[in-house]
Amino acid sequence: MSEQERIEELRRLLEKYAIEYYVDDNPSVSDFEYDRLLEELQDLESRHPELYDPNSPSQRIIGKVLNGFEKVVHAQRMLSLSDVFNQEELKAFVERIWKDFPDATFICEYKFDGLAMALMYEDGRFVRAVTRGDGDVGEDVTENVRTIPSIPMQIPEKGPVEVRGEVYMPKASFEALNNLQESLHLPLFANPRNAAAGTIRNLDTGVARKRRLDMYLYYFTNGERYGVHSQKEALEAMSRLHFRVSDAWRECHSFEEIWKFIEETGQKRASLPFEIDGVVVKLNRFDQQQILGTTAKAPKYATAYKFPAEEVETRLLDITLTVGRTGKITPNAVLEPVRVAGTLVSAATLHNADRIAQYDLKINDRVIIRKAGDIIPEVVKALPEKRDETIRDFVWPQDCPVCGSRLVRLPDEADTYCVNPDCPARILESIIHFCSRDAMDIDGMGSKRVAWLHEHGYVNSIEDIYRLHERRDELLSHKGWSDKGTDKLLAGIEASKKQPLSRLLFGLGIRQVGSKAARLLAQEFGTMDALMDASESRLAAINLIGEVSARSIRSFFDQSENRALIDSLKAMGVNMSEPKVENAAPDNPFAGKTVVLTGTLSQMGRSEAKKMLEDLGANVSGSVSKKTDLVIAGEKAGSKLTKANDLGIPVWDEERFLREVHRG
Ligand code: IVH
Repeated sequence: MSEQERIEELRRLLEKYAIEYYVDDNPSVSDFEYDRLLEELQDLESRHPELYDPNSPSQRIIGKVLNGFEKVVHAQRMLSLSDVFNQEELKAFVERIWKDFPDATFICEYKFDGLAMALMYEDGRFVRAVTRGDGDVGEDVTENVRTIPSIPMQIPEKGPVEVRGEVYMPKASFEALNNLQESLHLPLFANPRNAAAGTIRNLDTGVARKRRLDMYLYYFTNGERYGVHSQKEALEAMSRLHFRVSDAWRECHSFEEIWKFIEETGQKRASLPFEIDGVVVKLNRFDQQQILGTTAKAPKYATAYKFPAEEVETRLLDITLTVGRTGKITPNAVLEPVRVAGTLVSAATLHNADRIAQYDLKINDRVIIRKAGDIIPEVVKALPEKRDETIRDFVWPQDCPVCGSRLVRLPDEADTYCVNPDCPARILESIIHFCSRDAMDIDGMGSKRVAWLHEHGYVNSIEDIYRLHERRDELLSHKGWSDKGTDKLLAGIEASKKQPLSRLLFGLGIRQVGSKAARLLAQEFGTMDALMDASESRLAAINLIGEVSARSIRSFFDQSENRALIDSLKAMGVNMSEPKVENAAPDNPFAGKTVVLTGTLSQMGRSEAKKMLEDLGANVSGSVSKKTDLVIAGEKAGSKLTKANDLGIPVWDEERFLREVHRG
């Protein structure tokens, strides 16, 4: 046997052993034997670099540092699922389907709590893994996915195969990861889903390998091409192709059977080695699925039954108050740390004073908490029957806990406000908001840094941010402030002066003006001066800006201190205008774009499509270059498609093209 043949043999064997171990849970060789063969392979490969293969078992364990993740357009949109939260809603869902298809059966599966991923195979080889992204465009995370040992690099099917499923972090990996983070004094991950998503987007593939992700497959795209006609057959076919498919699925013929599966799953949930947040119920037959179709976001033939949030008992140790940017006072519960839905919780929001009164909460009460949407912890109720002599009343203060000025509560409002515009807490929060990601997005000015600068007297107003460069030397005298770091921060601040008006408007924190309204206003008026001069009625006449917002905007600009702030920002060189959007109709993705048509379209001729695009404001070109924004590829597209893929230009199929044309 030549060395080349031995390399090929070892690759085949090691791949087979990995599947036996990680997918079938039935290894035929010892770990020792596996390691020995792997070493032999690594040794041979190092002597034959010309035989490099990214799919070799040896490559899964080599850390690589990536430059970034390329965007990839999904050939078939990656849909999400509609949710139902109780028995009635679920019953309504299945009964609607039984009305159309009395013989329909449903496949019930776990709803794995991770991130959706598409895997592509060509000629039996793994070629690419892409995240869901926004459903249309995802990111190429092939190199990180390759480190997941249960994902086959070879499958016994030569045609192009795309399968989809969930990448997740097993509970044990998550615990180990957070223990490690803790010992290194690094921030903890909130839950296994976030940890999995962060791991998949890490540029160092060594990180993904160490953190031990796994994957379950549940979707076979274009299964019909391979004789697959139902979800049941899809799961079976994927198993045959060596994909890891959970065996916890069941074909159900009646609602009773479906509900039984859900109840049984609910009982098993806590003891499963991975997180699930519900059960997915899918109409089995593909022909019936096709007739029902999909909405823009989710199929009509499937739904997710979500388990109620896990509720846990603990003790309310204290109630603290925070003052927000608008002066709103938020009470927070300080809790005896307790594990909820996979993470340790020691604080929860109490929303407002009414909530505390309504729940009759007392310090040291036993309370029930849960995570709203499984993320933000909240107190659900108190357990007054468990009170002992240690309880104390919580007295809502009359004065702001930070500046001491009298708090105000308007008659019909649940919230209490500190109305002192000079309250240090309010000032700090508004500066943090100004610098934040959706506002001026100033690199290096996260909440901790801003709080430090505020505390040390460097930044007491928004204007001070742009005066910071004058105090560079002073900053350098503090521990931890290096030349390089300080200059980077100052450069970030300088760069933010170029941000468009919409971000500035949002950053100013005008009441009722969120980021969307800020964009509308900036597009409508173009400059700060034009906006500042607009009357209340002119503002209210803008689509989506209501009367309340119009009044709030007008009153903001009528206050002299706000005008003074804008004047000084202008004098310091902060941009006060919005670049014109060339695309007149924002909903039309073709306006102003250079588009290339290639291949044969089934519903219209090339010239008809060209006219359609031109009517939408596109510039239709005959050849693909770096300047091309989009390629629309019909059947049998050839070299133009290849070139577009090489250049990383988005490619849409005819279906997607027509969907976008008809959307507006
Ligand atoms: S099917 C068209 N099956 O849940 C079919 N999704 O909330 C779309 N998910 O984006 C998905 N377990 O990431 C399906 N057994 C399962 C699932 C599952 C988890 C995720 C998936 C999807 C999300 C929707």
